Amino acid sequence: MKKIIIAVVVILVAIQFIPVERTNPPVTQEVNAPEQVKSILKKACYDCHSNETNWSWYTKVAPVSFLVSNDVTNGREHLNFSEWDKLRGKESKAKEEIWEEVRDEKMPPWQYRIMHSEAKLTDEEKNILRRWAGE
Ligand code: HEC
Repeated sequence: MKKIIIAVVVILVAIQFIPVERTNPPVTQEVNAPEQVKSILKKACYDCHSNETNWSWYTKVAPVSFLVSNDVTNGREHLNFSEWDKLRGKESKAKEEIWEEVRDEKMPPWQYRIMHSEAKLTDEEKNILRRWAGE
């Protein structure tokens, strides 16, 4: 038992040295939305879908850091509220997808909602996003 515990501790310490990407690239164009909508997106989506990720302390601790870094890279690839200019003409399609994800409670992901109670959107907040998306 003691050997197992030592082995686990050694592994946990060792993986802290594996480099993890935690970048916040420059904002090229902020999402085009009223303040009310933006404040909802900021608290519920920006950590994974913007270049203004809040890299809080636990995102720096492996193995959580691997999962978070992966989510952010993946999330930014699919949708980036800090690079709205890249959408060029596909804005209404993007908004439609945003609403669908929120409506079906797929976004923000459940693991994120556990850690961030403010990311659990109320019906009122969902309605604001729905109206913004034009649905
Ligand atoms: C914890 C990180 C995280 C948060 C927070 C988050 N997302 Fe995502 N999102 C992802 C990841 C990762 C993907 C890509 C893979 C997937 O679909 O699961 C994604 C994909 C998406 C997609 C694209 C779906 C597709 O099929 O291409 C939309 C739209 C989206 N998210 C909207 C949102 C909205 C709106 C919020 C806030 C209300 C939000 N997300 C919050 C991680 C996140």
